[in-house]
Amino acid sequence: MAKQIARYVCQSCGAVTTKWSGRCDGCGEWNSIVEETPLSAGPSSKSLGAVRGKKIPLSTLSSKEAPPPRTISGMGELDRVLGGGLVEASAILVGGDPGIGKSTLLLQAAAQFANAGLKVIYASGEEASAQVRMRAQRLGLADAPVMLAAETNLRDILTTLEAEKPDLAIVDSIQTMWADNVDSAPGSVSQVRAAAHELTTFAKRMGTAVVMVGHVTKDGQIAGPRVVEHMVDTVLYFEGERGHQFRILRAVKNRFGPADEIGVFEMTGAGLAEVGNPSALFLSERGAPSPGSVVFAGIEGTRPVLCELQALVAPTPHAQPRRTVVGWDGGRLAMILAVLEARCGIPFAGLDVYLNVAGGMKISEPAADLAVAAALLSAREDTALPAETVVFGEISLSGALRPVSQAENRLKEAQKLGFTAAIAPQGGKISATDGMSLTQMGDLTSFVGDIFGA
Ligand code: TYD
Ligand code: MG
Repeated sequence: MAKQIARYVCQSCGAVTTKWSGRCDGCGEWNSIVEETPLSAGPSSKSLGAVRGKKIPLSTLSSKEAPPPRTISGMGELDRVLGGGLVEASAILVGGDPGIGKSTLLLQAAAQFANAGLKVIYASGEEASAQVRMRAQRLGLADAPVMLAAETNLRDILTTLEAEKPDLAIVDSIQTMWADNVDSAPGSVSQVRAAAHELTTFAKRMGTAVVMVGHVTKDGQIAGPRVVEHMVDTVLYFEGERGHQFRILRAVKNRFGPADEIGVFEMTGAGLAEVGNPSALFLSERGAPSPGSVVFAGIEGTRPVLCELQALVAPTPHAQPRRTVVGWDGGRLAMILAVLEARCGIPFAGLDVYLNVAGGMKISEPAADLAVAAALLSAREDTALPAETVVFGEISLSGALRPVSQAENRLKEAQKLGFTAAIAPQGGKISATDGMSLTQMGDLTSFVGDIFGA
């Protein structure tokens, strides 16, 4: 056996070094580096040997093995995020803040997949079987043919899975799992990585789909699931605002489907309910047209989603004005403010700027640039945009408006929800549809002039 060298692992980002230091070079976190014993070779590496080195022509694979067999759960929102159903032998990580509803979602999914004919084991390291059963009762799923295991020892779980050979195994959560061949506390990076590695290898070897739950914490104390992301096939994040009942399941990585796909749920007294028409939901709280409010026609994954952007611009009492963003990128906001100032001569110095995406939605598309600019201008000028208008378009640093993808789909969705006008960049393949007026502009200056007369 090779000589074991001491290694030091950052508990925050997972960076490995050969000597201890007070501050991690990788993420800059203080006091996060601890000594850990390297993983000893587990039983899984032995069984991998059976296929190691064997060559198979790609062409023989493509005819027989692809596409991967999938199972539909019947929960449309979940199936879409998975890329059209659960893929056999896939390893899936479901991350999210504690208390957001991961266990609830996965228990409901377990019941759905079990009813669809899969053999499902739900292994909980956080709750006793009786607690899981109580939750199932509350969700009206007490009769679902799901097997429960309250276990934290990884070896015991793997032994059970090996014996039972389920089609789907859910492990809640990866931070509570404890591998006895790794010499550090449960929840540490080494333990989380070892557990994820063993479970992923198990999935590939036995053809079982494995879903791992991972808590994401703001402080880096508990090893975040980030270190696991590259090991698994699919990474889903369950997000939502604390005060809101809406929850969004987002695919940030998916080897078997489009990334950025979202599924929308509502947390009710009896569990998570699917929201089939998220645009209607995100716009439901919108009142009469008001200054600072703009509807953005966006695309999430393969689906158009409309949502409301709200901006507030007010004189600042501080030397350094505030820039607060919820649901969008702060750096991108700074860029748009700079373009408005440099290209259109509209200064925001001395003004606090607040930007919020309504309904707890998070937008990452550059196509929202023009809608953000419109919300900021509308708030600054205290002028509401024309009623029933949607806005989309990317803004370049020169102030030019760039066409965005899937413009037709955006317009169709807007029309479906009763909007009658759209403001979009010039170019791109779009044409006005019946009952929908389309205004296309080449640059931000003409947008400011046309809409706000500034
Ligand atoms: P949970 O699934 O335990 O969260 P996680 O596993 O991500 O930590 O969800 C906990 C929250 O969900 C809790 O605050 C109560 C709420 N909840 C409902 O509102 N309705 C329900 O039917 C259930 C089961 C939970
Ligand atoms: Mg939980």
